[in-house]
Amino acid sequence: MQNEIINILKREEKFSENTLEEISAVEINDFADIIKEVGQQETEYLSRTEILDNLNTKTIGKEIYIFNEVMSTNTVGKFLSENGVENGTVILSEKQSGAKGRLGKHWESPLGGIWLSLIVKPKVDHSKIPMITLATGVAVVKTLERIGIENAEIKWPNDVMINGKKVCGILTEAITKFNTIDSVIIGVGIDANFNVDVLPEELREGTTTLGRELDQKVNENEVIKCFLEEFEKIGILFEEGEFEKILKEWRRYSYSIGKIVEVREPFSKTYDAYVLGISREGALVVEKIDGTLEKVISGECIIKN
Ligand code: BTN
Repeated sequence: MQNEIINILKREEKFSENTLEEISAVEINDFADIIKEVGQQETEYLSRTEILDNLNTKTIGKEIYIFNEVMSTNTVGKFLSENGVENGTVILSEKQSGAKGRLGKHWESPLGGIWLSLIVKPKVDHSKIPMITLATGVAVVKTLERIGIENAEIKWPNDVMINGKKVCGILTEAITKFNTIDSVIIGVGIDANFNVDVLPEELREGTTTLGRELDQKVNENEVIKCFLEEFEKIGILFEEGEFEKILKEWRRYSYSIGKIVEVREPFSKTYDAYVLGISREGALVVEKIDGTLEKVISGECIIKN
């Protein structure tokens, strides 16, 4: 966390030679203020003005912070959420140098992608966090529909796929205080406009981008605006406790249901299973080869057919 903040401030030349001395003289709240001030900028590809132009939301995106480069927008989101920002605040960066994927993996974030974190403060208990992740996946698919991609699907729990290739990943992190949820940081990475050849070789085959699917570059700000609107719509269902409606949407877009998968859960043996559906808590319901049913709560399911 500290590294992240210091790196941003150095990159943006908020500190000079005497970095350490200067840093030790700054109060934590002042750090947050300086970060917010840096985040007022617009970058080559990211424009607050364009995103806010006709943005049809009540809370989502009312505060937007934009950076040229951060390690992880989720880390900046966590820092800001602990230092006073509104529900619905958005953090955007053109590039990330140490982005986080699910299951402790690294997430590649070159220039040309949409790297976004959303801070929400839902009044729910821990058990409902997976539902926020599923809802975010649905919001991404609806965003893609609005820009003309009709065939995006969701691979459990939160990979958005087009023709079997991943185009978006979602990482949700909860911040708790005294055992209750203070904020949830929803990190969304959409592969928008870069060439997949900039990715490490092992990722190229399984990755696609919006630009590639549409055969033309997309306007990142337009995609972000659509996403914020779609997220707010499904977020209202979430707040109203309409979980069954969210699950119904998720099922409609599911890439996993009806497939044979290899289930890899933390601390247990992998096994093959047939995906039957999704439970009310957002777990994947699978049937093992011996006919027994299991609920997969965390981990990953590799599609086999
Ligand atoms: C996954 O493993 O599929 C989840 C990837 C989530 C990546 C996004 S990009 C914006 C936000 N910042 C991060 O460090 N991670 C998320």
